[in-house]
Amino acid sequence: MLKKSFTLSLIAILLTPFISFADEGMWLPLLLGKQEADMQKNGMKISAKDIYDVNNASLKDAVMLFAGGCTGEFVSNEGLLLTNHHCGYGYIVRHSSVERDYLTNGFWALNKQEELPCDGLSITLLVYMEDVTGKVLKGVTNSMTEKERNEIIEKNSKEVISEATKDNHYKAEIAPFYYGNQYFLYVNEVFTDVRLVGAPPSNIGKFGGDTDNWMWPRHTGDFSMFRVYASKDNKPAKYSKDNIPFAPKKFLKINLSGAKEGDFTFVFGYPGSTTQFLTSFAVDDVQNFDDPTRIKLREKRLDIYNKAIKQGPAQRLRYANTIASIANGWKKWIGEVRGLKRLNTIEKKKDFENNFNSWCQVIEERKENYGGLISSFEKEYSLRKKLNMDVLYLREAVLASDLMKNARNIYGLLDRIEKGKISDKEEIDLFSEKLLSRMQNYFSNDYTNHKEVDKAIFVDLMTTFYNDYSKENIQSSVFGNSEEIGKNPEKYFEKVYETSFLSNEKKTNKYLKKFNVKKIKKDPAIELFALLWENIEIKQLPALGQIEENLDSLYRIYVRGIMEKESSKQFYPDANLTLRVAYGKIEPYYPKDAVKYLTHTTIEGIMEKENPEIYDYVVEKKLKDLYKRKDYGRYKNEKGELPIAFIASNHTTSGNSGSPVLDANGNLIGINFDRNWEGTMSDIDYDKSQCRNISLDIRYCLFIIDKFAGASNLINEMTILE
Ligand code: ARG
Ligand code: GLU
Repeated sequence: MLKKSFTLSLIAILLTPFISFADEGMWLPLLLGKQEADMQKNGMKISAKDIYDVNNASLKDAVMLFAGGCTGEFVSNEGLLLTNHHCGYGYIVRHSSVERDYLTNGFWALNKQEELPCDGLSITLLVYMEDVTGKVLKGVTNSMTEKERNEIIEKNSKEVISEATKDNHYKAEIAPFYYGNQYFLYVNEVFTDVRLVGAPPSNIGKFGGDTDNWMWPRHTGDFSMFRVYASKDNKPAKYSKDNIPFAPKKFLKINLSGAKEGDFTFVFGYPGSTTQFLTSFAVDDVQNFDDPTRIKLREKRLDIYNKAIKQGPAQRLRYANTIASIANGWKKWIGEVRGLKRLNTIEKKKDFENNFNSWCQVIEERKENYGGLISSFEKEYSLRKKLNMDVLYLREAVLASDLMKNARNIYGLLDRIEKGKISDKEEIDLFSEKLLSRMQNYFSNDYTNHKEVDKAIFVDLMTTFYNDYSKENIQSSVFGNSEEIGKNPEKYFEKVYETSFLSNEKKTNKYLKKFNVKKIKKDPAIELFALLWENIEIKQLPALGQIEENLDSLYRIYVRGIMEKESSKQFYPDANLTLRVAYGKIEPYYPKDAVKYLTHTTIEGIMEKENPEIYDYVVEKKLKDLYKRKDYGRYKNEKGELPIAFIASNHTTSGNSGSPVLDANGNLIGINFDRNWEGTMSDIDYDKSQCRNISLDIRYCLFIIDKFAGASNLINEMTILE
C-alpha cells in the first residue's frame, strides 16, 4: 500500500508539466517581501507591496475576516462583499421560514432597501500589523517559570494594545507565532452593520451537499453576498437605518478570462489553524484515537438527523445547519486519517525526532537546550491521552442532545446559587425567567416532532458513551453501581429523558417559575449532567489545561530548535486565524492509480450529477433552460463552456472559506471554498502532489447573479475586466 502510493506521488511529480515551487506555506503579508521573488518567478506580475502596504491602499484592504471564522472580500466601492454560501448559511437560515424559504429558493435584494440586517454578524478589516516580539517579551528570561513568563507577556501585551488603540476607534490584538517565539500586533476595524444581499438557492449554493463536500470534481456554487454599512463618516457603527454603504480603501477587480492549468494564483485570507510541528506522539493520538472516536460518535448523530430531515421541509430547515456542521468535521477527519496513513506521517515524524535527538548530542549547549525535549513530549502526551478522551466524549457524546445542553444551562444557575455567587432572590428570579423564556422558545419550535429526534440522540449517544467508554474509564465515580443502567442502558436513558421535567413543557414552566434548588437538583437529567460535568469537566479540565500549557512551552523550545537545526529553510508560522497569503498554481493531481483529476469543472458535470430524486442533486428548471440554450453570456470560457470550479496548489485550511483567489495581476478569479479529500491531512502534513484547494470560478458566480437571478444591480457595481 505504502510503496504504491510512494511510486504514485513520484510519477505525479514526474508527469507534472511544470516545475513545482513553494506550494506549502501560509505567509504573513507584512513579510511577503521574502516571498516576492519566488512569487514573481512563478508568474506573479504585481509586487508584495501591492498585496500589503501600510501607507497606501493595497489588496489587504479588500480582504476581511467574515463572521469570526471565514474570509470575505470587497467587490465594489459600496461595501459589497463576496464570501461562501456556507459562511453566510446561518444568516440565510435565520431569515428563512417555511413560508419565505430563502435557504431553499435563494434571496436577492434588488435594491439596498431590500437588504436584510444580520444581527450578530461582524466583519474585521486589518488596518496594520506589526512585529512586537521585542515589546511583548521585554523582561522575559529563560530561567523564568511558565507562569512568570506568561504574566509578563500579558502585562506587556496590554500595554502594547492600549497604546495602539489610544484615541482611535480601532480594536487591537496580539497573536503569538511559532508557539510564542514571535508576536505580532494586529490593529483592526470591526464593522457590525452587515446586511444580507444575495444567496443562490441551496441546490446551487450547496449543490452536492455533504456527499460532494471535501471532494473533487466539484460543482457547488458556494457563494453569498453581503454589504457592510458604516456611519456617515465611513466608520464602524451599530446597525441604523441612517448608515450608509461602507467605502473600502480597496475592492477587487474581477477577471472574467479566468486562469488555466499552470497559471499562478494566490489565496488571501484567514486560515484558522494548522499544526505542522506536531510530534509523532500527537499525530498518533489524532490518527488512532481522537479522529476515529469523533468519527464514530458523529456517525450516530448524523444517522438520526438524516432520517429526520426526510420527514419534511420544516425538519430540513431545522436540522440543515446542524447536519452540515457535524458532517463537515466528520468527513474531514476521515480524509485526514487516510492521508496521515498514506503519508506514513507518524513514522516520518519519529525519524525526524531521532534525527533531532542526534543533532542535540553533538554540542553541549544544544544538549542542554533541547536534549530532553522528545522524551518530555512523550511523557506529557501519555498523561494527556485519557483526560483528552474524557473531554472528547463529554463534548461529542454527552453534550450531543438538546436535553443535556438545556440541563447544562440550568445547572449553570444551580451551581452559582450553591456556590453562593448569587443569593439575592430577585437576581435568581431574573436568571430563572431568562432560562424559562429560552425553554419556552425551545418548546414552541415544533417540540412534538423534535422530541423524538432529540431523545433518539440522547439515548443512542449516552448508551454508546456508557458501553464504549465510561464503563471502563469513569463508571464507578459517575454512575455508581446502578444496577438498572447495567442491565439495560438504553431503557435507563429513555427513562431519564421521559421523566425529566426538561422534556415536558408544563413541568418546565412549573419548575422554572419557582426555582426550587433542591427539587431541580433531583431531576434525573440535571442530576446526570451534573455528575458527568463535575467528574469530567471540573475534575479533568484543569489537569488537561496544565498539560496543554506544558506542551505549548515544550513546542516553543522545540520549534526554536528545529529552526536552529534547519537554519537555511524558510519557515512559515502555523495558521492562527490571522491574515495570510498562500500561493501556488492551477494544477491537476493523481488521486489514485491511473486516475488524473483535471483542473476545471464545467456545467456539464452539474447535468451529469443531476438527480431529481435526491435533494442535493436537484437542478432547477431555470438553470437547465440556460444550459440547454447554452446561454452563458459573457461568462463562458474560450471553448464556449460554463466553468464552475477549479483546483490549485494553494495551501489553505478551514477559515480560508470565502477567500479571494487571485491571478498574477491580483484580480479576482475565484472564491476558495474547500480542499480535496486526499489533501485534508495538510493541516498536519502537507503533500504537494495531493493537496489542492477548491475554488468557485468567479464566472459561475457572476453567471448565477446575472443570468440566473437577474440581479444586474449587483453586477453593475463591480469592476469587471474581460
Ligand atoms: N468543507 C467545506 C469547509 O470546510 C465546506 C463545508 C460546508 N458544506 C457542507 N456540505 N457541509 O468549510
Ligand atoms: N470549507 C472550509 C472553511 O470553511 C475550507 C476548507 C478547508 O478546510 O480548507 O473554511
